[in-house]
Amino acid sequence: MTLRNSAVIGLAACMTLVSARPVDGKTPDAITLVSQSPLIWRIETNASVYQLGVANDGIVVPLFYGSQGVPGDIRDFPLKVNPLVGSTIREVPFRGGFVEQTPAVEVVYPDLTRDCDLTFQSHEIFTLDGAPCLRIDMLDKHYKLRVSSFIRVIADKDILEKWLILKNEADAPVLVENAQSGSVQLDADEYDLLHFSGRWSDEFMLHKTKLTPGVKTLQVRDFFSWTSPWFAVMPDGAADEHSGPVWFGQVAYSGNWRMDFDKSSSGALQLIGGVNFWDTALTLAPQQEFKTPKLIVGFSPDGLNGASQRLHDYARNDVLRKETRNTLRPVLYNSWFATEFDVKQEEQLKLAKRAKDIGVELFVIDDGWFKGRVNDKAGLGDWDVDKAKFPDGLNSFIEKITQMGMSFGIWIEPEMVNKDSDLYRAHPEWVLHYPYRVAHEQRNQLMLNLARQDVCDYLFGQFDKLLSENNIAFIKWDRNRQLSEPGWPDAPPQLQRQVRLRYIDNLNKLIDALQAKHPAVLFETCSGGGGRINLDMLSRMDQAWPSDNTNPTARIMMQYGYLNAFPAKTMASWVTDVDWHNAAPSLEYRFDVAMAGLLGIGSNIAKWDDRQVDIATKKIAQYKSIRDLVQDGTLYRLVSPFDTQRCVLQYVSADKSRAVVFMYNMWDTVQLSTNATKGSQFVKLKGLDPDAVYAVSDFWDRSASGRTLMNIGLPWLAWGDTASKIFILTGK
Ligand code: GLA
Repeated sequence: MTLRNSAVIGLAACMTLVSARPVDGKTPDAITLVSQSPLIWRIETNASVYQLGVANDGIVVPLFYGSQGVPGDIRDFPLKVNPLVGSTIREVPFRGGFVEQTPAVEVVYPDLTRDCDLTFQSHEIFTLDGAPCLRIDMLDKHYKLRVSSFIRVIADKDILEKWLILKNEADAPVLVENAQSGSVQLDADEYDLLHFSGRWSDEFMLHKTKLTPGVKTLQVRDFFSWTSPWFAVMPDGAADEHSGPVWFGQVAYSGNWRMDFDKSSSGALQLIGGVNFWDTALTLAPQQEFKTPKLIVGFSPDGLNGASQRLHDYARNDVLRKETRNTLRPVLYNSWFATEFDVKQEEQLKLAKRAKDIGVELFVIDDGWFKGRVNDKAGLGDWDVDKAKFPDGLNSFIEKITQMGMSFGIWIEPEMVNKDSDLYRAHPEWVLHYPYRVAHEQRNQLMLNLARQDVCDYLFGQFDKLLSENNIAFIKWDRNRQLSEPGWPDAPPQLQRQVRLRYIDNLNKLIDALQAKHPAVLFETCSGGGGRINLDMLSRMDQAWPSDNTNPTARIMMQYGYLNAFPAKTMASWVTDVDWHNAAPSLEYRFDVAMAGLLGIGSNIAKWDDRQVDIATKKIAQYKSIRDLVQDGTLYRLVSPFDTQRCVLQYVSADKSRAVVFMYNMWDTVQLSTNATKGSQFVKLKGLDPDAVYAVSDFWDRSASGRTLMNIGLPWLAWGDTASKIFILTGK
């Protein structure tokens, strides 16, 4: 018998709860106190119910999280507990007493007591940034540590945001060894976990694994998050892409994060996530508080695609910056793949002229534009334009671009420094290092210690100047190395193990300060490819670079993975000449793949012949006609490249009057082989208006009703290795 089971007594005594379902048929408030004694809160979204209450030992306990309408969705039995063990399953699991879960709070008090005892104090239901929010305050009475647990409800997207604030109300410091953002408890069942893995050039690979008793941990320790902090959990066999219950979520944090999936031997599953406190600790001085980042959790009754649709809506409407969330992203050209560090004004202007001719709206110069930057061994840290490359200065070059009718963007890597730079020569103490350890370089870089205020002030000065003096509309903010030797020898002892926390906090403040002063500039997050993409970064950066690997077949896989967690509106996707796997897909195919996200071009377009220019011009024009669907539409993933050699993505407008279907073949199966029969000859569409008639482009100019397209489908018309088709559906 587990401790939890031994705690289950007094079931009958607690059966006098008020009804949780509204009896008058009105839409219930998102958060309701459904019982005063015992205290029980019920949080309702469109499709989910989350319940929690206070047990008779004063501990706040989770009661239920799942679908609306599940019988018995009030679990009152954990509220009256065996006094010998107390509540061992907790809403905010803490180290102390009988510990049955992965803890969210672990502290050490001044007398070296390491057990916490957090009991309910008060609650408040209020509105925070336009959404209902529940705050539950818990207090460790003797040591006066207050822990406030927040649940903000995004009811229409079935999403809950969870975070904690720890406040030291005593007059002596408390050492915080762990403070996770939140925990969720799911009923006993068999569960599968879907998550990403990633490494450079192979980001967003999907993995499905059965959760067996024990703890499965996903984590990052070196700031490099080629695997984004996203998960989906579903009962074994009960859910798939378009049906069945799925719990999903993300840790919204750009530093080291972790997520634990703790399956007890009773079969219950705890999901918990937040900052990875590995080699990190925080001293809370009297009256000081620590706010965790957010853990986003959601529930989809309609499968993984439903979970993605909710996350996309949430990211686009609740996460992306207000200044940019309602604007369509421009088609960009970036000269990195064409010229690398060899940036020459005249050559860039030639590229720009061609870019304008084919329909590009934003011209971006990548690495290599600043003083001393002839290769990756020098220059990082000194952010003045290289006068040898731009003799008339940067802004005079930008003027030429804007006169052509395009806006201008530029690459920066603020957090890094080369040893061969004026900045490093002046301030060697500004890099993270330990006095008697080698400070390892990666890509010839050391990492600036952003935990230091003087470093942040310097960086703000540099980039504020760059943005103030030049007409820059777009910043690609890169970060190309992993964290090592996170030492800060000058800092007082209590700050030494806070370096990683302060670094990320200051990084966020730096971006916020630059954006407050330059709100119209569009920002893209890049990190040696997709090494720092998460919902907190996307609340600042308007879009993301998912991978340095632009091979279209590889991108089909990565984009399919990416779209599980983040919307296409943030997914930069380029046409390049690069062939990572010796594949030679056609230019049309490269465009068709890139057009499923934010279209960019990185080829050496100055070398293109008339045929290539013609293809690009037509494809860019076509993209402009559908980009609102891709960027703001509803996604249906119809065929997975993780299951077959094919992939189909469909985007539908909110009013269902228009849609676009991207159909990709990665390689052809041998005709008449058994493998060939695995791929259906038709692809059934989704999300259309059954009664509407749609004209379907590229389908011999035919029309079909939504009903036909959803029940019979579009024929498979992408034959041959790396073949593709784009169908545009327009309601008549
Ligand atoms: C990283 C980025 C690339 C490019 C180079 C420039 O590798 O991911 O897109 O910007 O840096 O050095």
